[in-house]
Formats: sequence, C-alpha cells, structure tokens
Amino acid sequence: MSKKVRFGFLGAGSIVIHRHALELSTNEDAELVAVYDPIKSRAESLAKTYGIKKVASSEEELINDKSLDAIVVATPNSEHARLTIAALKAGKHVLCEKPMATTLEDAAKMIETAKAMGKKLMIGHNQCLMAPHLKAKKLIKEGIIGDVLTFRTSFCHGGPETWSQDKGNHTWFFKKEKAYVGSMGDLGVHKAYLIPFLLGTDIDEVAAFIATMDKKNEKGKPITVDDNAVCILKMANGVIGQLTASWTFYGGEDNSTTIIGTKGRMVLGANPDYQVEVFGADGTESLYKVGAVATNTVQVSSGIPDLFVECILNDMEPPFDGLKGYKALAAVVACMECAKTGKITKVQNVPPKVKIDVPRACRTRMK
Ligand SMILES: NC(=O)c1ccc[n+]([C@@H]2O[C@H](COP(=O)([O-])OP(=O)(O)OC[C@H]3O[C@@H](n4cnc5c(N)ncnc54)[C@H](O)[C@@H]3O)[C@@H](O)[C@H]2O)c1
Repeated sequence: MSKKVRFGFLGAGSIVIHRHALELSTNEDAELVAVYDPIKSRAESLAKTYGIKKVASSEEELINDKSLDAIVVATPNSEHARLTIAALKAGKHVLCEKPMATTLEDAAKMIETAKAMGKKLMIGHNQCLMAPHLKAKKLIKEGIIGDVLTFRTSFCHGGPETWSQDKGNHTWFFKKEKAYVGSMGDLGVHKAYLIPFLLGTDIDEVAAFIATMDKKNEKGKPITVDDNAVCILKMANGVIGQLTASWTFYGGEDNSTTIIGTKGRMVLGANPDYQVEVFGADGTESLYKVGAVATNTVQVSSGIPDLFVECILNDMEPPFDGLKGYKALAAVVACMECAKTGKITKVQNVPPKVKIDVPRACRTRMK
C-alpha cells in the first residue's frame, strides 16, 4: 500500500462535507483521490473544495479504481450494505456510515466479507470519541458513581431536512425505501451504540413506542418513517434505562445522557460549561470541562476518519467495528419490532449465519 491512505468517497453529502473530507484533508497520512455522487454537481463541488482530482462517473468506476486503498460509504442508508460489500470485494478498506445496514442479514454479510477479504470495516459511530463520553467511560470504570443502576439518554433535534443536502421535506431521510428507519435509526442508533460503550455491557431486551408525530413529506402527507422513539432498554447485566430519539425537538437540541449509580449521578452534555458533571450521593460535586458533545449546529471534529487511517496504517482492528455496529442496529430492529407487536423484545446480539459470495481466490487468510 502507498504510504498515504488513498481515499475515495461514495456520496458527497453533508456528513462527507462537514466531517469525513474535512477531517481527512488535514490528516497528513491521507490523500483524497476520488469521489462519486449521482448528483454530479455535489461530487464536483466536493472535488473543488478539497482538490480531489477524480470525479468518477459511476459507483463501479470508483469502487474498482485500483489507486484507492479505502472508501468512505456515506450515502442514504439503503445503499450502505451493497456498496460496502462491493468495495470490500474490490479490496478496499471501508468506513461506512451509520446505521450500517437496513437488515441484520446485510450487516452480518458486511462483517463476513470484511473478514474474508482481510480488510478493515469501521462504522461511523462518532459519539464514542466525543470528549465527554470518553471522560465518562473512564470515570465510570474508576467507580466514581459506584455500580450503575439506571440511565437516561437522548438524541433529539429538529429533524434532518435542514441538514441533508436534499434540503426540505423531500429529503431521503423521510423515505422508508431509502432510510428504512427515521429518528430511531438516525439518532437512536447512536445512543444504542453509546450506552454499551459506556457501561461495558450489551443491550439485551427492549420495549418501545415509535411513532410519526409531526413530520410531513413534500406532498403534505405524514412521512413513512418515525420522527419520535421512546424506548426502555434492559442491559445484559440487568441495568435498565431510557433512550429517546426525536426529530421534532423544535427550538433546541438534546444530546445528553444521565447515568445513575450507587454513589451518585453523572450528567453528560447538558451543561455547556461543564460537559461532565458528577453529583455525589454525599453532596459532593465534580465538574469537568472536557469539550462539547457535537450537535448539528455545533460541529466538533469526530476523530473517526483519523482513527480509521491509523487502523489501516498500523493494521489494527477498528475499535468501532462491524460487530458493534451490528449490535446497535440489532437494538434498533428490536425496538421497531416491539413498537409493532407491543411485546418486550430480545435483541439479536449474535449475527445470523450468512453466506457470502467471495471467491476463494480473492480471500485473504486471516491472522
Ligand atoms: N455519524 C454521524 O453523526 C452522521 C451524521 C449525519 C449523517 N450520517 C449518515 O451519513 C449518511 C449520509 O448522510 P448525509 O447527512 O451526508 O446525507 P445527504 O443527503 O446530505 O447526502 C447523501 C448523498 O449521497 C448521495 N448518494 C445517493 N446514492 C448514492 C450512491 N449510490 N452512490 C454515491 N452517492 C450516493 C446523494 O446524492 C447525496 O449527495 C447517512 O447514512 C446518515 O445516516 C451520519
């Protein structure tokens, strides 16, 4: 492999503009080489901003470009699995956005294809690298709040129609065939990933109400995915908590988490001055200024693309790997199932056995 990791982008939308391309452009070990977007003007605009030399004319052209080492898949959710698998099969490392797929089978195929091809697969679960969450994980491990009992986590904003490059009510985020799931898959999946990261235990069972309360499509009809999700999670170690995702949090954003333990309460991302606050049961207060939790209006460097480059160059398994992405998706799927059936639902944390179509000759022996 060339010394620098040579990147191609599938999708030239908001997440690539605000995070992936922006962050990779300042990474000395990365080179931005090619981009494809079916809306060519978006690809051209990204290319112009970052000096990307090649605007590919098709997905295939980009995926099969032999000069690339890695591909960022940042398209509508419905395309993630198909493009990721094609890119892995073409011998590329893949950084894929969340939710990693729209079915558990597809997510399992992505994991297996990466293994078979000996390539890195990382999912863009950027919540875990946010400074308050890293600090919280450390403090929880050190026992500052004792044994964790319950939690409450929220990811709520006014909706993706002002964020997506498809600005307005026609955005793909509002269409089931492209997005598969609404606020729960866009925002809830982040917290379904974060909570196991903070607590060190999987989500085991869920109960959920998921609904379309307010959002309308371009024809004035209710959108075909949810805009609100209120879920109860039971972790594998018995801890219980609440997860809320909303696209109708008009007039503000809430990306906060509260964790209650036997020795006190920890609040993350609620106070702009002190992003980690610990209120002890004994009346003590410990306040930490560590840096903000990112929101749509306050962008904070995610660290995800840099970590991906490091994993490739040092041949490290990405910490935000396919299996953890799969488990977050499995929690979302379980919440949706519960919302449909009204029954408490087990999370399928073990990926289903899947067949992958990778010729033996192309497989790389795994270490
Ligand atoms: N990790 C995060 O915090 C975060 C934040 C926002 C979005 N996302 C995820 O990133 C992905 C992209 O979201 P976005 O906000 O950039 O959306 P966006 O609407 O701004 O951009 C998506 C782009 O993908 C392009 N596209 C569609 N089909 C394509 C294909 N087959 N090949 C290449 N490009 C294609 C579209 O033309 C569009 O330009 C989504 O999966 C979303 O969930 C993650």
